[in-house]
This record gives sequence, C-alpha cells and structure tokens, in this order.
Amino acid sequence: MNTLILKAKNIEKDKENIEIAGEILKKGGIVAIPTETVYGLAADATNKDAVKKIFKAKGRPQDNPLIIHISKKEDAEKYAVAIPKLYYDLCDKFCPGPLTIILKKKDIIPNETSGGLSSVGIRIPSDKTARAIIDASGTALAAPSANLSGSPSPTTSKRCIDDLYGKVDAIVDGNDCKVGVESTVISLAEDVPTLYRPGFITADELKEVTGELKIHSGVLEKVDSKKNVPSPGMKYRHYSPKAKVTLVKGNKQNYCDFVNNHNGDGVLAMCFEGDIKCLKTDYVCYGEENNGADLAKNVFECLRKLDEKNAKIVYAHCPSENGISLAVYNRLLRAAAFEVIEV
Ligand code: TXA
Ligand code: MG
Repeated sequence: MNTLILKAKNIEKDKENIEIAGEILKKGGIVAIPTETVYGLAADATNKDAVKKIFKAKGRPQDNPLIIHISKKEDAEKYAVAIPKLYYDLCDKFCPGPLTIILKKKDIIPNETSGGLSSVGIRIPSDKTARAIIDASGTALAAPSANLSGSPSPTTSKRCIDDLYGKVDAIVDGNDCKVGVESTVISLAEDVPTLYRPGFITADELKEVTGELKIHSGVLEKVDSKKNVPSPGMKYRHYSPKAKVTLVKGNKQNYCDFVNNHNGDGVLAMCFEGDIKCLKTDYVCYGEENNGADLAKNVFECLRKLDEKNAKIVYAHCPSENGISLAVYNRLLRAAAFEVIEV
C-alpha cells in the first residue's frame, strides 16, 4: 500500500494536510495521528470496515476494544447512553487531556470497535492537530496506539513510520508526544468508578472528582486470560522490545551491583539518571527517578532504543508505584511479562 506522509505540526500552516487526513478518514481509510499521549492509528469509529483495517494493520487481537476520540465533550451523546453527571465533571477537570472514560455505548458504535462489549471508551485529546483531524473527519475516530501489536507504543512520527509504513493510508507527521504513556482509563459503566489503566492523570487526582475509585487488580497483577477480563488490553503481552526484560526493585547501589554482576554480551541496563555513574554495563537512561512525568515521556522510546542496540537481556530499574510513576510501572510490568526481582 502507498502510504502518504502528511506534515501537520501546526494547525494553521498545515491546514491542507489536516483536510487531506480528514478526507481519507471520511472515506474509510486508516491514518496514524499524533496525540499528546502516544500516536494513534485512526479510523471512523462508526464504520466497521474501516475499523477492521486497524486490527489488520496492527495485528491486534479482535476482542481488544478500541477507544474513540472526539473533539468536544457533548459529542459523547452521539455515541453513548445513560451518561452520568460524573462524565461531565471529569471532562471539566481533565479534558481535553490524557483521560479515557468508559460509558455504555449506543448501537452506532459497531461491535468491531467495542470488541463485542456493550461499552465504549471516549477520549478528547489535547493535541491540537488530533482535534483538528477529528473535526476534519466529521466523525469519532477509533484509535489504538499506532504500533504493531505487542511492540512499544510510538511517541514520534518516525516510530509510526518504522512500524506502519506501507500498511496504512497515511501517517501524520505531527509533534512528538508530551505525555509519552497512553491515557488513564476509567470506567463509569460499572457500579463504582473503576481504574483500568493508570496514566498521567493519577488515581488521587481522579478521586478528587469521583470520591470512590476502585483500582482494578489487573493494574498491578497478571490477569488470568482464560477468565472474563473486563478490559481486554490487560491480558496481552505489551510494549515489548525483542530483548528479555526483567524489572529490578532496589536502591541505587543494590541495583547497580546486581546489573554489574550480571554483565555480559547483550546485557543492558534501563536505568535512572542517578544510576549512570555506578554502572559498568551499556545502558539507556529513561529519566530521573523521582520525576514520574519524565520517566513516562521516555519509557517507550527507551524500549525501542534497546532493540536498536541489539539488547538481549535488559535489567530495568523499577520505578515507584506513586503518582505518574504507577503508569510507568504498569507498562514496564507488561514489557517484562511480570518478571520482577528484588535486590
Ligand atoms: O492514550 C491513549 O489512550 C491512546 C491514544 C492513541 O489515544 N490510545 C490507546 O488505545 O492507548 P489502545 O487501544 O492501545 O488502548 C485502549 C485500552 C485497551 O487496554 C483496551 O482494552 C481498553 O483501553 N478499553 C478500551 N475500550 C474499553 C471498554 N469499553 N471497556 C474496557 N476496556 C476498554
Ligand atoms: Mg496499545
């Protein structure tokens, strides 16, 4: 397939390319678009044939639902029913922004989009190019992360090109993602608001609006994929570089001692800034230990760099479970297939 590259870093200057992206989407094509979290692979969420193309291009399991992207909160009424007041309260506080809210869906959202579920995740991205493309398409855009299924989510247009060139109609070359991990996912379709995926908007921030908040066990534990999993993305191996990743929990000295003692061909550290001086192995650094936003911004790019360095074994210094770091921990747990050791 011929893939167009459409530069759109500025919605005024690059208006023409935004219109082209909108037209392709209107006609049932698939387009990788920037958002503030990660790049998404978009299609008209109401067009089942268009949505099927996303699953094919990514190699994504059919039962894993897609979230839909709209440009203003009221548009949720076109796609969801029984919308609680809490939806509007959350939007007023956090949207546009890196939050996905799950509501009961209307029939206009086909089963192909919802993975057969009776609910749909809705998000209003803060990235201006993303919202301009949604408006140009005139519909809601289903968009999972624009990576091949299983590999780390892309935070630059270059990474979308690496994964999807030749497989999609267009890739929008927009700005690099400021957040770096996917949106926080909260469900309002259950009796109690439930956090399914941690992100830049933290559980504590959500609780200020929701009061009660259940944290689904799948956030930090492996889910049993044979059981009915309410948020199917939880059960798949994710975000993985080709190397075997192990998370190493411990202070700087113990972490560095462990990695130095396990040095060898293809062994790399994925470390904090403060570890660098102490390490005798090759490494990629993913930011400052106490700065969750910094770690989030870099984590996926670092996982991809490990592949470029031909890493075979990676020891990643485990982030904390506090604030935004919980989102980073959640992603690394999946990259490491839940292999965690304490030192
Ligand atoms: O930041 C993001 O959310 C990015 C950008 C492109 O917007 N998108 C994204 O989509 O990460 P995706 O499909 O890779 O992740 C959506 C997650 C999956 O784990 C999926 O299982 C869960 O949300 N999900 C989607 N709809 C759901 C629903 N109706 N009920 C439960 N979980 C749902
Ligand atoms: Mg994804």
